[in-house]
Amino acid sequence: MSLLSVDQEKCIKCGICVQACPVSIVEFDNGKSFPFVKSGNEKRCIVCGHCEAICPEFALIYNPPESQVTIPAENKEVNAVNLGTYFRSRRSIREYLQKPVEKELLKQVMDIVRYAPTGSNQQKNQWVIVQSKEVMQQLKEGTINWMQSVSAANPELAKRLNFAGLIASFERGNDVICRNAPHLIIGYANVAHTIASKDVVIATSHLELLLPAFGLGGCWGGYLMVALQYSPDLKKIIGLDDTVTVHSALMIGYPKYSYSKIPARGKADIHWL
Ligand SMILES: Cc1cc2nc3c(=O)[nH]c(=O)nc-3n(C[C@H](O)[C@H](O)[C@H](O)COP(=O)(O)O)c2cc1C
Repeated sequence: MSLLSVDQEKCIKCGICVQACPVSIVEFDNGKSFPFVKSGNEKRCIVCGHCEAICPEFALIYNPPESQVTIPAENKEVNAVNLGTYFRSRRSIREYLQKPVEKELLKQVMDIVRYAPTGSNQQKNQWVIVQSKEVMQQLKEGTINWMQSVSAANPELAKRLNFAGLIASFERGNDVICRNAPHLIIGYANVAHTIASKDVVIATSHLELLLPAFGLGGCWGGYLMVALQYSPDLKKIIGLDDTVTVHSALMIGYPKYSYSKIPARGKADIHWL
């Protein structure tokens, strides 16, 4: 089966699909032919599906055809005011209801997150979702243990990162690692996948932005994330080994409070050329 099927009744040879192809394998002889992919070029396809998705005439089918969904017109408009306010209103959530998030809801969220951009559309992001209270506890304690070992090995670094203060606070019963969130979503990828650090971080950022639409909130778990990057023992707790690298950790749960205001932030630091 060829990569593209063209409905010749519908195709107006506008060439938008040709322009949209990120690897330039869709051709149309400057409008003299219908769009096609030269035999042998199929293997260069990154399976992004843009050729079909962008066609204004619904004339093109990227094979296999079963997966594309038409965007409802009413959902197409991206409003700068609403979306801008929404982006500015996103907050790191550090107070959670002590109520687990339903697995089905988490599945729905992750089913959207998989649409985040990935280098060459490789889609190699992997996730661990922690639901178990015991594992949450082991991860927090393991992070504190890692902080203690860093404090012994590199007191200068530990001082700069205020590990002593964090350890003392944890020992007083404050969960400075996971903020008593009921769950964690940890993003990782194979060590050989070089662009993964970006892919996973982008997807995690999408995830954080998506959560409020499901009544949820999140916060990056930076200490845990770094501890997972440096401590093989901690990684073992979530079933990962040295074939993979952790690139993100997001606490997640139902927020206890909602924010009434958007706090001030610094100006965008842009060098215009
Ligand atoms: C990479 C990264 C790591 C972070 N690590 C932590 C963390 O370990 N604990 C925490 O409470 N917040 C953490 N945060 C949240 C930041 O403190 C927060 O984004 C910042 O204060 C701005 O607040 P806002 O997200 O509500 O705008 C982290 C954020 C990022 C991007």
